[in-house]
Amino acid sequence: MSSSRDHFDAFEHHTLPKHGILSAYLMRWASIHLRREGGGGRHSRVCFVDGFAGAGKDKDGRPGSPLVAALVAADIRNASPERGLVQGSRMCVGVVESNGPRFQSMYATLADAVAAAPDDWVLHRGTFGDHVDELREWVGSDPTLWFLDPFGIKGLHASWYADLLGGPKNEIFVLAAHVGSVRLTGVVQSETDDIERRIGAIAAAPSLFAGEDAIRQAQLAQARADIRRQLDINDPAARTILVDALGSPDCIEELAAVAIERRPEMYLQLFCNALRRAGATVQLTIPIRDVGGRPMHVLIHASKHVAAMTAMKRSVTEGLARQDLDATMRELLKLELQAPVSPLIEMLCRTRAGQTIDWSSRKRTRRPLVVQIMEDTAAFGFQMPELKRELRARGLMDRDGRIEVVRFPELPA
Ligand SMILES: C[S@@+](CC[C@H](N)C(=O)[O-])C[C@H]1O[C@@H](n2cnc3c(N)ncnc32)[C@H](O)[C@@H]1O
Repeated sequence: MSSSRDHFDAFEHHTLPKHGILSAYLMRWASIHLRREGGGGRHSRVCFVDGFAGAGKDKDGRPGSPLVAALVAADIRNASPERGLVQGSRMCVGVVESNGPRFQSMYATLADAVAAAPDDWVLHRGTFGDHVDELREWVGSDPTLWFLDPFGIKGLHASWYADLLGGPKNEIFVLAAHVGSVRLTGVVQSETDDIERRIGAIAAAPSLFAGEDAIRQAQLAQARADIRRQLDINDPAARTILVDALGSPDCIEELAAVAIERRPEMYLQLFCNALRRAGATVQLTIPIRDVGGRPMHVLIHASKHVAAMTAMKRSVTEGLARQDLDATMRELLKLELQAPVSPLIEMLCRTRAGQTIDWSSRKRTRRPLVVQIMEDTAAFGFQMPELKRELRARGLMDRDGRIEVVRFPELPA
């Protein structure tokens, strides 16, 4: 993973899915709320708050999250009436960045966007915590998506989550960094454990070169002392950061109780629990791996509506279709996300036995099967071609005139 210093030099491959998914979701989410008919509620304003905004773009000009938002905001402002949005629709954007040079870079990157619609922007230099209250006032009761993307987990406070989710249509999209969490909770300890093992191994099986063994042991002992010192210094700070982000002092014990390799998973679970306690009844977790398949971070979408989760699932499919994604990484991400097809079809056969359901046509069915699958199961949109193939292979799918239908047989008596 890149350090905070070089992150904006050139985005690494595994950063691109985040931006692809964010871009797709912002457009979809804003359109749902701003649509005149049948939408989320005929709002004319939605707000996106980028609480850890970064530099705006990388050195190759690839958009970072604030620029992604600026492009979507411009699309919405310039949308033709045929798009069906409420007249005067706008997506307002609030950004916060604590690092001076990055803030300056972002400010310059966004200059044109801000000049085109000055009333639609607020830009704060400082920490998100410093500005969260005024931002909450600024968004008011309009649907708001809070994007929290710090390096690691430093700077997150569980005490905010309930307030951020407070509006009826508010959502949080947060990046939980695997590497950050391991660094905070595991690696220091595991390194000392490893050193203990290596010192023990030298003592248990001395080589012919006793002098070299002694030097090696002394070096390892020094490394252990250094790390322990680091641990002494860092441990209280690391604990504070974790308790702040996860919202409960018990989290330290819960993390300590599991093996180091399971800590990222436990950390994710504790994070989701904190969001659930804050009112996020519907959650979608999207693991992101790097090109080598190593887990890098998890995007957590926390909302209160299945429709929001479904919109995010569709956006994941769209985001992963981005042309500039590394092809192997794309396939790895899909593999990890996808729901197994056979059990899914068997579940549909059990729960829809005796029903004939249109596959995608909304003419005759309020919830065509494809919508039911997206809303009621873990499957993603990119799995639909495979699902259709399997339904056909099992003789469950055919046509009723021009409309594709799926006929689920009655269950045997
Ligand atoms: C991972 S980067 C953001 C990347 C950006 N969201 C994007 O996708 O292009 C995290 C940023 O948060 C900033 N930051 C760190 N702590 C912060 C805090 N407490 N409040 C606001 N910004 C913070 C860092 O300086 C860094 O630029």
